[in-house]
This record gives sequence, C-alpha cells and structure tokens, in this order.
Amino acid sequence: MNILAIESSCDETAAAVVRDGRIILSDVVLSQADMHALYGGVVPEIASRRHIEAVASLCDRALEDAKIKKSDIDAVAATYAPGLIGALLVGLNFGKAAAFSLEKPFVAVHHMRGHIAANYLSFPELKPPFLCLLISGGHSLLVDVRGYTEFHVMGSTRDDAAGEAFDKAARALGLGYPGGAAMDALSKGGDEAKYALPRAKVEGNDLDMSFSGLKTAALNIINRANQTGEELDKASLAAGFAAAVSDALVPRAVMAAKRAGRTVLCAAGGVAANSRIRRDLTGACVQNDLKLYIPPLKLCGDNAAMIGAQAYYEFLAGNTAAMEQNACATLDISQRRL
Ligand code: KG4
Ligand code: ZN
Repeated sequence: MNILAIESSCDETAAAVVRDGRIILSDVVLSQADMHALYGGVVPEIASRRHIEAVASLCDRALEDAKIKKSDIDAVAATYAPGLIGALLVGLNFGKAAAFSLEKPFVAVHHMRGHIAANYLSFPELKPPFLCLLISGGHSLLVDVRGYTEFHVMGSTRDDAAGEAFDKAARALGLGYPGGAAMDALSKGGDEAKYALPRAKVEGNDLDMSFSGLKTAALNIINRANQTGEELDKASLAAGFAAAVSDALVPRAVMAAKRAGRTVLCAAGGVAANSRIRRDLTGACVQNDLKLYIPPLKLCGDNAAMIGAQAYYEFLAGNTAAMEQNACATLDISQRRL
C-alpha cells in the first residue's frame, strides 16, 4: 500500500511516499528555519504562507522521487494535530483535497504518533509494545506504546519541552534558531562540570519532568557574564546543559520501561538527535538489559515519511478520516479527534 503523506505542523513542509508503513519510497523536506531565524523563533503567519507556497510542488516531487504515478497512490495522509493551527490546516486541507480528487481514503495523523513511527521505518523488526522517550521542540513525553494506535502517557514535562529549553538557551548564547543542534556541536570539548546546573524533581508523578529551572539557571549564568564582562565558557555551559537534560530524561525512560514491563526502549523526536542523550541511552540500556532503538538523525526531526508510516497503521485500525476532519492545535497522543 502506497501512502502519500504530508507534514506541515510547524516550520518544515514535507511530503513523502511510504509503502506498507515501513519502506520510504521518497522523502522531501523543505525547512523554513532560515526565514524564522530572522525573528528568533517561528512566526506562525509566515509558516502558513510558506507551507501554501511549497506543498503542491513538494508532493509532485515526492511522487517523482518515488517513481510512481498519482494512480499508484492508495491513500493520502496528513498531520492534523498538534501544532500551529494555520500551518496544520495547509497540509491537512491539501491532503484532503488530494484524497478527494484521487478518490482514495484520507488518514489524519497525530504528529507525535508520527515521530514514534520513525522507528518503524528504521527498524523492520520493531513492533509494539515498547516504551518511547518522545522528545521534540514542543513535547517531552514518556509513552507506553501498547499497540500501533494505542498509547499511554506515563510522564511528561510540567513546563518547557526539552527542545524548547535547548532552543531558549541557544538563543541566549547567540546560536540562532533552532539551536539544539548548534548547542550539541558546541558542547564537544566543553567541561560539563564547570557550571552548576539544577536537576529538577517534581512533586507527584516521579516520571514527570521540568526544564524551566534549568533554562533559567543557564540564562542567569549567561546574563551575569554579560553584565560583569567575565568570559563565558560557552562550550562548557552547552555540555553542562546537555548533561542536565539527559540526566532528567534517561533515568526516567529506564524507570518507565521497567514499570510498564517493557524490554524495548525507543527514542523519537528532534531532541533524540542529541549526541549526549543518545550516548547516555545506549549506556543505560546496556546496564538495564533493555533493547534500544533510536532512528537515524534524519528521521528524528520533522519529516513526512514518519507520518506515512503511522498512517498505514491508522488505516489498518480503521482510522480513516472524513472530509470534515479539522486540525487541532493541541491533542493528547492517546486521543483521536474527528
Ligand atoms: O521533532 P522536531 O523536529 O520538531 C517538533 O516537533 O518540535 O524537534 C525540534 C527540536 C528543536 O527544539 C531542536 O532544537 C531540537 O529538536 N534538536 C536538538 C538537536 N537537534 C534538534 N536538540 C538537542 N540536540 C540536537 N542535536
Ligand atoms: Zn516534530
């Protein structure tokens, strides 16, 4: 089954063709990051406009790269939640129109379910159940993936997402937007113990996380250096920051896997590209007898192939959408909204 998939929830316009949820026939991503970098973050109106300009030609390109004709498409899928509402509507409406005109089913996909499905594209043997550490610019979640379309959230951030914290610290360090990857590169060679950074514990659910205190601590160190003229060791601050984020995520992911009785741990989302987190996950999984899967860097960030992968399993579960399907800015991963 060939699915044409579209992703437009934030600042990447993407289209892909995926076969049977597992094989990428094509995968094209057009990032708008350069445009938004001028403003230090995503400007929703600009994002929507850019998606409109790009979506049709990207879909043509995805079909061309996949070497298939429109008549070879068996279903069309698009991200419908969560994300910037105007941005989501562009991909969703284009997807619905394409499905309608091709007389094929339409599948609406939750963006974070898509991130998890990036693992199915990378690891043919992987099947639920497993525990997923799902870390992106907008979300930090520990999800028990009980089935391809059945999710249970065991822990989440109480404030900033991990990626958001990286981006805010990176901006204060003058690294531009989005700054997670630049922070990662900068941290190489830094001394992670040089600056004292907090590891927050939250009341209640011990699998919940908090990153706002860490972000504030980093901003205070940067501001103090700016005010006193003391030289800031940016590499050490970046290394300490990554260590603190990883210390919040990795032990909780292992704890969640054990509590859920899972022997497989997956990571997903843009922040799963972080080298420190990948290294710590690898060590923790060896120590705790967990099998670890992390997608290659290209499939950690936003793309449409992951949407096509999840769409296949939504389709098999009977989760097709009507032409009335709307977009939602926020939606729990365990829910569907029609
Ligand atoms: O999943 P994603 O592409 O988009 C969302 O759904 O949000 O994640 C983007 C986030 C950004 O915050 C970006 O700075 C972060 O992932 N990121 C990283 C790295 N690469 C991307 N954070 C830390 N280290 C990285 N290597
Ligand atoms: Zn994403």
